[in-house]
Amino acid sequence: MSFNLKNIISIRDFTKSDVEYILDKAEKMEPIARSEKVCHKMDGKLLGVLFYEPSTRTRLSFETSMKRLGGDVVGFSEKQSTSVQKGEVLYDTAQIISQYSDAIVIRHDMEGAARFISDRVDVPVINAGDGAGQHPSQTLLDLYTIKRTLGHLDNLKIALVGDLKYGRTVHSLVYALAMFNVEMVFIAPEELQMPVEIIDDLKKLECKFTLKSTLLDNLEDIDVLYMTRIQKERFPDPKEYQKVKGQYTLNKSNLEGTDIVLMHPLPRVDEINFDVDELDNAMYFKQAFYGVPVRMAILDSVIENSEKGD
Ligand code: CP
Repeated sequence: MSFNLKNIISIRDFTKSDVEYILDKAEKMEPIARSEKVCHKMDGKLLGVLFYEPSTRTRLSFETSMKRLGGDVVGFSEKQSTSVQKGEVLYDTAQIISQYSDAIVIRHDMEGAARFISDRVDVPVINAGDGAGQHPSQTLLDLYTIKRTLGHLDNLKIALVGDLKYGRTVHSLVYALAMFNVEMVFIAPEELQMPVEIIDDLKKLECKFTLKSTLLDNLEDIDVLYMTRIQKERFPDPKEYQKVKGQYTLNKSNLEGTDIVLMHPLPRVDEINFDVDELDNAMYFKQAFYGVPVRMAILDSVIENSEKGD
């Protein structure tokens, strides 16, 4: 199996074999992520971390991954501390960090930001979330979580719940799930349903999916329940957020006695009560850990490819 991508911008750039390559490599790297093995593969290498939007898991797991591989990181976690405050544009900042580092991870509020800089710098670029666009490393860790938990990615019924309009995790995930034999159920208030362009793409890909608006009466036969937060920060009108917030909340009794694998990219707001954490179904903290081996596999693969040249 080979992997030729030099940048990780959208899951739509991946073939099924690319996805499987990263998942297999991540599994091999898990002992390093768990600190059971020491790795020096990235000795002397630096990862540039440009976070224009807040993050806990993505930034810290990329940083953990690079350090566990023996490398180090430079960068920023809030634009207020950089020369962006003096008017520096993304293009210039990216040019500078590309000269200080061997790869760049970027999160930005503008859809297309990662693609924009990947076309203009000489080091690999990894999209850590661009507005309501894509979040491909999250998707790979989501798939890894499903595979590590259930042993396979085929013949599954997966419900995606919450903010399907603005949620970039689900916008990425559906294209990856479309590579496998899965049935998807999109559960959202009408105004936050999956964008029509994505629905049209899924139809062209001949995916099996249904649209629903209620949660608890649509859990039958579900193998994986993927909850998401309503993305308050992306609503143009705060009043619209007030209308839809808190519509879907799970508590322990809703899942107790079922085999449903409960996932969430996190952060959670009010979608999953804390009592759910006691259930074996609750996979979201393990899912966040799996971000480390998966991001190690991503970093190792793109940095290796960048050293091969054209
Ligand atoms: N899942 C995710 O992207 O989390 P952060 O926003 O904390 O990085």
